[in-house]
This record gives sequence, structure tokens and C-alpha cells, in this order.
Amino acid sequence: MNVSKTNVGTKFLTCILLSLFFAGCLGNDDKKDSAVPAPLYAKGKARFEGICTGCHGVDAKGSGPNPPLYHSDFLMADRHRPIRIQFLGLPNKVDTATTIVVSDSVFSGMQMPDIGFCSSDSEIAGVLSYVRVTFNTATDFITVQEVASVRDSLIQAKILDTTGYAARCAM
Ligand code: HEC
Repeated sequence: MNVSKTNVGTKFLTCILLSLFFAGCLGNDDKKDSAVPAPLYAKGKARFEGICTGCHGVDAKGSGPNPPLYHSDFLMADRHRPIRIQFLGLPNKVDTATTIVVSDSVFSGMQMPDIGFCSSDSEIAGVLSYVRVTFNTATDFITVQEVASVRDSLIQAKILDTTGYAARCAM
């Protein structure tokens, strides 16, 4: 009788410990995803898979002259520079260096196009938020307002030239 009671007790305890363990794992994942509002995360994921993977890879680890977005200290060092890169490409009028160092590796010789030129603020906020939390350690997100204010200041400074918008972005 005593033995079976102990068995039940042990099973019960194991169950609780396992539940706590799995709850802990799920909890972490939830926390990562919930750092970004769901619609923004979904938009960013779709944009990453549709556009960025072509050069940066499906795992975001980059290849050849295309640097990684995965564990990128360059990406995480500054909130505004990645927004600028979406509008202006890289190198650009502000970030003029033709050689960059991303997580101890040197990249040069290939220019990233200004793929965000025709994109909305939420598309850019979404994709940057997605790569920051999914492939890096961010627990916050890039807001639509932040992207809008970077866009405005680039236009004010005549760095982002919107005269080409109508022709390039019609459709
Ligand atoms: C046509 C290829 C191409 C596409 C598509 C592209 N990139 Fe890039 N990207 C590059 C290259 C090349 C560089 C490095 C440029 C340099 O060496 O100055 C770069 C650099 C970067 C950097 C800074 C370096 C780093 O690794 O952190 C970020 C951030 C970035 N890209 C984000 C994106 C995002 C987000 C997308 C999708 C919306 C995207 N890129 C799509 C080619 C591309």
C-alpha cells in the first residue's frame, strides 16, 4: 500500500515538474512573439519571406556579400539606421562606408537596393520588428510612428528624394 502511494506521489510530482518545464518553454516562445503586435508581426514575416530571403537567406544567415540579419550586431546597434537602409539602400548618403562589419565579418562590394522606397511605414516597421525578435534578442518592436518620423526627417533633409515616387511606385 505504502509503495503504491509513493508511486502515485512520484508520478504526480513528475507530472507537475514536466508541466512546469513545458509551460516554461511555451512561455518563452509566447513572450518572443508577443513582443510585436500580431498584425505587424504577420506583415513583417510575409515581407521577410517574400523579399529579404532572396539575398539574406531563409534562415537570415546571409551568404557571400549578403550579410546576416541573424544575430546581427549591426542591425541591433541602432534603431534608425535599419529604417534608413530600407528607404535608401546601403551604402547611402548617410551611411557612406563601402565596407561594413557585421558580427565580426567584413562585407563590401555589393549594394543593397532601396527596396523600401515604395513601401508603407507599417511594412517597414513590420519587417524590422520581425527580424529583430525572430533572429535576434529584441523584446520590443519598431513602431509605425518611428518609421514615419525617419521618413519625414529624410525628406526634410532632402536625402530621400520623393520626386520619383509617382513613376516608380504607381500600381
Ligand atoms: C538584392 C539583395 C538584397 C535584398 C533583397 C535585401 N538585402 Fe539587405 N543587404 C544586402 C546587402 C548586399 C547588404 C550589405 C551592403 C553593404 O555591404 O554595404 C545588406 C545589408 C542589410 C542590413 C545591414 C547589415 C546587417 O546584416 O544587419 C540590413 C539591416 C538589411 N540588409 C535588411 C534587409 C531587409 C529587412 C530586407 C528585406 C525587406 C533586405 N535587407 C533585402 C542585400 C539585400
